[in-house]
Amino acid sequence: MRHTGHVTLNASEQLVVAAAAAAAPSVFNTQPWSFTFTEDGMEVHADPHDAWMPTASAARDVRLSCGAAVFNARASLARRGHGSRVSVLPDAGDPLLVARIAVTDAAPDPVLDELYRWVDSRRTNRYPFRPEGVPADVLALLHDAARREGATLRLLEAEPEYQRMLTSIRHATWTEDEDVREDRDARLSPRAEEPAIPVGNLGPVPRGGRPDDPPVRDMAVGLDLPGRGSAAFEPHPDLAVLETSDDDAGSWIAAGQALQRLLLEATGHGIAASFANQPLEDAELRPDVSGGAAHYGYPQMVLRLGYATEQPPASPRRPLSQVIRRTAA
Ligand SMILES: Cc1cc2nc3c(=O)[nH]c(=O)nc-3n(C[C@H](O)[C@H](O)[C@H](O)COP(=O)(O)O)c2cc1C
Repeated sequence: MRHTGHVTLNASEQLVVAAAAAAAPSVFNTQPWSFTFTEDGMEVHADPHDAWMPTASAARDVRLSCGAAVFNARASLARRGHGSRVSVLPDAGDPLLVARIAVTDAAPDPVLDELYRWVDSRRTNRYPFRPEGVPADVLALLHDAARREGATLRLLEAEPEYQRMLTSIRHATWTEDEDVREDRDARLSPRAEEPAIPVGNLGPVPRGGRPDDPPVRDMAVGLDLPGRGSAAFEPHPDLAVLETSDDDAGSWIAAGQALQRLLLEATGHGIAASFANQPLEDAELRPDVSGGAAHYGYPQMVLRLGYATEQPPASPRRPLSQVIRRTAA
């Protein structure tokens, strides 16, 4: 068997890998991470910096976001011809150290290399999707992508599950804490120094409104944002829940990696996604999201999947100088 030795990334590789990690989705675009490069790899730290956390489920959402960043780093390393080995939560004395990624001279994983192609074009897409559903063979690929990272993508195909999910999302939307909503609006307002999510990325205001709200999140309820517009949404979007068998920090990080793997796979097949995590942020509603399922898991993300009608612009990222804590050379 070939010996696999460690590889030290050069300065430009460190920047490329950090940029890929930072392109991951994160809760309300808070980018709650920082990266350290060492002689033999990279560390991903949970780092809420001074970011306001928009949800009551911040601890989970931060780890999910960091898990997605870890996956992008792995894909970027594969593209650069390196192998990688991930240790999740490697230091019991440092719970904010999410993962240590050893960079090795083993052959890169060709699937990760291929998925890297979609890192920059993946978006959270809050625009209406085309009416047709995602083909079963593509859904199977997304299910398999989640499974490879230790999570389950449960499709809500049957009633009463589908309707129950819609009801749950709507209920959570309508009962959301007023202070949380106002705080989020303040960060999206054109008066904010730099809106956390640009107008073009929020998608249109759903037309119609209560009681038929679509399962897409209007991040800026009540804000009248110039240029946003309104639109009717597809009548029956594909909905799915990403689940894990446990509900601890390690599971959230696995769910984040699974999320990013399936989102990149989806992007490669022309499938867009947005999220409706409202019921997961409400401690009372969350147990209902997966509680009625035949196989019970812990829900980590609620996804809407479909064919895009529009490609939103990229949301801004923090400069890499703020995100990289230390370089190896
Ligand atoms: C843990 C987590 C939770 C999220 N929850 C929602 C959500 O409930 N609704 C939504 O529209 N987007 C949600 N997002 C998407 C982020 O808002 C999005 O990733 C961020 O604004 C960056 O934009 P991008 O994904 O287009 O790069 C979530 C992302 C993560 C990682």
